[in-house]
Amino acid sequence: MHADASRPSVPDLATIQALARADMAAVDALIRSRLASDVVLINQVAEYIIGAGGKRLRPMLLLLAAGALGKRGEHGVGADAHQLAAVVEFIHTSTLLHDDVVDESDLRRGRKTANAVWGNATSVLVGDFLYSRSFQLMVELDSMPVQRLLADTTNRIAEGEVLQLLHVRNPDTDEAAYLRVIERKTAVLFAAATRLGAMLAGAGEADCDAMHDYGLNLGYAFQIADDVLDYASDADTLGKNLGDDLAEGKATLPLIHAMVRGDEAMRATLRRAIETGDADALPDVLAAIHATGGLDYSRGRALEFAHAAEAALARLPDNEYVAALRGLARYAVSRDH
Ligand code: IPE
Ligand code: IPE
Ligand code: MG
Ligand code: MG
Repeated sequence: MHADASRPSVPDLATIQALARADMAAVDALIRSRLASDVVLINQVAEYIIGAGGKRLRPMLLLLAAGALGKRGEHGVGADAHQLAAVVEFIHTSTLLHDDVVDESDLRRGRKTANAVWGNATSVLVGDFLYSRSFQLMVELDSMPVQRLLADTTNRIAEGEVLQLLHVRNPDTDEAAYLRVIERKTAVLFAAATRLGAMLAGAGEADCDAMHDYGLNLGYAFQIADDVLDYASDADTLGKNLGDDLAEGKATLPLIHAMVRGDEAMRATLRRAIETGDADALPDVLAAIHATGGLDYSRGRALEFAHAAEAALARLPDNEYVAALRGLARYAVSRDH
């Protein structure tokens, strides 16, 4: 970005977390209290994955978006925002439970996945529980616009996961197809979180749209960064196994770039690796990704989306919450887990 002394400073993650701390504590308490079920296995599994932490980025985005548009009072951004932030985290967590079954992943948030501990059936069914619990929490707010947005969003997420399934083991997946998948499976939930924050603040349509635009672009940036980390981090830092995407035959952006830029021999190797989902091909695939600059290319694309997210904030008032959102756009592409 251009250095410009007239622009407000951009806070780091610790500063952003400090700003949201009291509200996030309220959200966390709500999440814990609303997990409860009298079916013991549900409590065990839900507590296991929720208790493992996670970055809680989506609820934080909702709270910050509400604060950015003026919803700040004695009780932080307010009980409704806390409740919707919990809804968004429940939806996210339920998609993770399902995603790890589909992706056959065995490490999540630094722990064995629920499917690795309890099996696929339990993970899918507790995922369903969290999904429907999120809707119970949502309807308590009795707002048709909120319900419409979340119904549409969850439907799009499901479409994204199915669309991704259609591309598994398809070496001809191109960047446009990849972007269509990540918009639905990831970006729309970010966009819903930030739009909900704006809606709760009583913002006008243009500000709601700006927040949506910010969240959507941030979501793209976040998923591309995730797909880079799958090739570039280590399991201890990431809390997930590396090379999962290749093992699933998922053509993500670093690999798609290597397919476009690689020579014929590389392309043949990559094609075979994607078609078979062969984790043993990881060293060769990594070599091709490095030789073609696939990680830098992907980081560059993620940065473009992060800049677009920041640009969407331009029409909003200048306050520490908007600065925090700007900071999260930077964090999404510089994070190591
Ligand atoms: C993981 O999301 C799924 C993706 C969209 C890449 P997060 O990286 O936000 O997961 P947690 O909640 O912090 O574990
Ligand atoms: C995120 O995609 C899918 C969801 C929206 C649940 P990934 O499959 O890349 O997420 P991780 O890497 O397993 O967290
Ligand atoms: Mg996955
Ligand atoms: Mg991933």
